Amino acid sequence: MTAYVPLDGRPFRLTMGLRPLDISQWFERDDEWDIQLSLKRNLVATKRREVVAVTPTCDAAAHELVDRVAPFGSTTVVDDHPLVCASTMVPDDLCIMEFDGANWRLTGAVVCFPSRWSLLEKIGTTLDEIHGPVPGYATELRQPTTTFFHRLRADRPMWRLNWTLLDNPELFQPHPERRAVTGDPASWWFRVERQTLVRLPTTDAIVFTIRTYVTSLPTLVMNRPDVKDMLLTALETAPDDSKSYKGWHGVAEALRPWLTSEDRLPH
Ligand code: HEM
Repeated sequence: MTAYVPLDGRPFRLTMGLRPLDISQWFERDDEWDIQLSLKRNLVATKRREVVAVTPTCDAAAHELVDRVAPFGSTTVVDDHPLVCASTMVPDDLCIMEFDGANWRLTGAVVCFPSRWSLLEKIGTTLDEIHGPVPGYATELRQPTTTFFHRLRADRPMWRLNWTLLDNPELFQPHPERRAVTGDPASWWFRVERQTLVRLPTTDAIVFTIRTYVTSLPTLVMNRPDVKDMLLTALETAPDDSKSYKGWHGVAEALRPWLTSEDRLPH
C-alpha cells in the first residue's frame, strides 16, 4: 500500500506541486526496494536498448551522481557506465538534465519503470519537447518549470508527486499508448510517482528521479475510504484532453457504481 495519495478533493488541475526535499530522504527504503531493484537489474541486462540511454555529454554528471547515490544505495553489481552503476543501486529511475546554453536537455537516463512513454523518443530532447504530449503543459507549466530549473539551488532540492489509474500493474510500460483504462475496477491500479529534483553542485546538472508505487484499487479504497470521493472528483473534473492523455474516458462512469457496490474488497 503506497504511503503517497496525492489527492486533495479539489477539482483536477495541473500543478508543479513542488515541496522542499530533506536530502536524507532522497531515496526511500521500503518493502518493495529489493523487489524493484532486482526487476530493474534484470531489465538493464535484458532490455538495455530500451531502458538505458546515455549521450557523451552526461559522463561528468554521471560520475558526480554515482558518488552521491552510493551512500543511499545497495551495492552495485555492475562494472558499467557510472549512470548505470548509480541506477542499479536504487529502485528509482534516474535522469540527467543539462543546460546547453539555451535549453534544459535530457542527456542521460536509466528508466526501467516508465508510465506509458518511451525513453528512446525522449533522450537528447528538451524539457519542452519531453512534455509535448502533456495537455496544458505549454500554457500552464512550461514557463514556471523552466524558471524553476534555472533557479534550482544545490542546497535546496525539491520533490513532487504524480498519479494515475491504470488497468495494468506492470512497472515497465514503455509504450506511449493513450488507450482508455477498461475492465472491472477491481483489477485497476493506483500508480504514484515520487519525483525528486536535485542540482549537482560540481557539474551543475539537474538529476530527476522517479520512484514508482503501484497499489491495487481495492486495497487503496479499503485502507483509505476517504479517497473514493476525491478520486471521483479528480476524474470527473479533468478536461477532455487530459482525460484522453491519461486514458480516463469512461473511468469515473465505471468507478462510481463499483465504489458503492458490495464486492469491492480485495480478493
Ligand atoms: C518541475 C519539473 C516537472 C514538472 C512540473 C513536470 C510535470 C509533468 C506533468 C504534469 C506530466 C503529465 C503526467 C500526468 O499527468 O500523468 C509530465 C509528464 C512527463 N514528464 Fe514531467 N515534469 C517535470 C520534470 C520532468 C523532467 C526533468 C523529466 C525528464 C525526464 C520529465 C519527464 C516526463 C515524461 C517523460 C512525461 C510523460 C510524457 C509523455 O507522456 O510523453 N518531467 N510531467
